[in-house]
Amino acid sequence: MTATLSPQALNEQYGIPHTLRFESAPGGRLVRAVVTGDAATGVIYLYGAQVAEYQPVGHKPVLFMSRQAHYREGQPIRGGIPICFPWFGRKEGEPGAPAHGTVRTKNWDFKAARKEGDNLVIDLTTAADHYELLYSVSFGAQLTLKLKVTNTGPFASSFEEALHTYFAVSQIRQTEVLGLKGHEYLDKTQNFTRSTQGADPLEFAAETDRIYPTMADNCVIRDPGLHRRIKIEKGNAHSTVVWNPWDEKAVEMDDLADDEWATFVCVETGNIADSKVTLEPTQSHEMSTTITVEKV
Ligand code: BG6
Repeated sequence: MTATLSPQALNEQYGIPHTLRFESAPGGRLVRAVVTGDAATGVIYLYGAQVAEYQPVGHKPVLFMSRQAHYREGQPIRGGIPICFPWFGRKEGEPGAPAHGTVRTKNWDFKAARKEGDNLVIDLTTAADHYELLYSVSFGAQLTLKLKVTNTGPFASSFEEALHTYFAVSQIRQTEVLGLKGHEYLDKTQNFTRSTQGADPLEFAAETDRIYPTMADNCVIRDPGLHRRIKIEKGNAHSTVVWNPWDEKAVEMDDLADDEWATFVCVETGNIADSKVTLEPTQSHEMSTTITVEKV
């Protein structure tokens, strides 16, 4: 299977009437799968295996997508759920390497689509260095993401990974993230200084860029403006990242409109820094996250 299949060929092979169709994305270069399931709608690009939209029935859209996002090869898409792998942020010892790894800017192979009850499950695969990746996305009343990594090389090796989820919020200043209390974090706005979060919730009043390398607990985003809570459950994921660029950094980003920084928060599930994963040859590791929206 190759990722360069046309929407028409993908529709013939994998399309499911009224539930799954493939189309060219804006600009015509990238291909995406559009899900119209019984319990949710969604969009996933083959490029980066990036979930771009998710909306369970009866709720507002859960994910943020920039109005100025680039949809072209070589550049990441700003919003949705980019996959960071096999490193997070800058690659150690290689300042020229792309931020957040290589798989968010490559076309993945579409492997399978199936209905499971009210859910539509999509599998995509790719390879990076000596790893094979299988990404399984289940669009339903909940969104469940599973990333399985297998070491196909002859030596033990280590990687970092993250599901860099952009959550749509009504207003970042009123948004709270719960579950981080007592956990150590690396503050990227303070040159990676280590501190411990004293209190719950985390509130936002300035640029926030924190890696909690050993934070395996679940998190909750509280959004009074949208009258909802978003639960983020984690499996085999020992790190959490929280990011909002705030106004000055946002203006420097050409793929984000100037007012958009206030309408998202990234809460990222991963295995980073102290929690990087080491696999022996042929070994696999699967991390997962489940996102649930509740009205309050
Ligand atoms: C976050 C990082 O996860 O991603 C931030 O902690 C970074 O430091 C942000 O700025 C966005 O990264 P990028 O490469 O998508 O602009």
